[in-house]
Amino acid sequence: MTEKLYEGKAKILYTSDDPHIVLAQFKDDATAFNAQKQGTIADKGTVNATVSAHLFTLLEKSGISTHFIDQPAATQLRLQKLRMIPLEVVVRNVVAGSLVKRTGLSNGTVLAEPIVEFYYKDDALGDPLLNDSHILSVLELVSASQLSELRASALEVNGILSQFYVDCGIRLIDFKLEYGFAPDGSIVLGDELSPDNCRLWTLSDNRVLDKDRFRFDMGEVASAYQEVLRRVLAHS
Ligand code: TMP
Ligand code: ASP
Repeated sequence: MTEKLYEGKAKILYTSDDPHIVLAQFKDDATAFNAQKQGTIADKGTVNATVSAHLFTLLEKSGISTHFIDQPAATQLRLQKLRMIPLEVVVRNVVAGSLVKRTGLSNGTVLAEPIVEFYYKDDALGDPLLNDSHILSVLELVSASQLSELRASALEVNGILSQFYVDCGIRLIDFKLEYGFAPDGSIVLGDELSPDNCRLWTLSDNRVLDKDRFRFDMGEVASAYQEVLRRVLAHS
């Protein structure tokens, strides 16, 4: 018997026969701006589950430990159950989104080097940006060495995914990761790797292929998600 463990904005997590394994059901539902904007994107569940499965497999081959086990159905992933760390770990290669608002720099400015930011995963607070002191001594979310490990891992993931996406003709502008603890205490990459939590622009002409099309009513949302899936499958 499976039981619903948790329902998020884009996924439902179910228990499985094995207490260490959960089943994620990817939904077509989309939200933005802390759920103030809501809608659906046709076949997003299939795109996000399939793209995530491919990218987790790619990362595992490069030695990154992830929660991915397999994809038993188009919209489902079997995942190792983690105790999630309530941080959104954002890596940026190019100025976009909230970094435009925070700095006044132009959208599309290439950063001298990739940067990592941490946001507190708390909808009621609107996922605020945290500095190291907030994480370590105020909220005590992780230890100093674990925070270094998160930064190093996120940058390593960035290197691997950026190269892969270039091979797909896509620029990885920025993305969000979430990590958790496995039962043995090790830090493992969780959540999903999909056009919902990345910015992806075509290499040829900076055409937006990610959730910004939904956030900002740019049109051709479902077809952009399909284009990402097609390009990822062609290079896997
Ligand atoms: P931002 O520019 O809005 O801070 O977003 C940075 C990256 O993080 C971008 O690729 C979108 C992703 N992201 C999420 O996955 N979930 C969120 O709730 C937010 C705000 C951003
Ligand atoms: N997923 C988040 C929400 O619903 C924010 C976003 O991706 O823009 O609100």
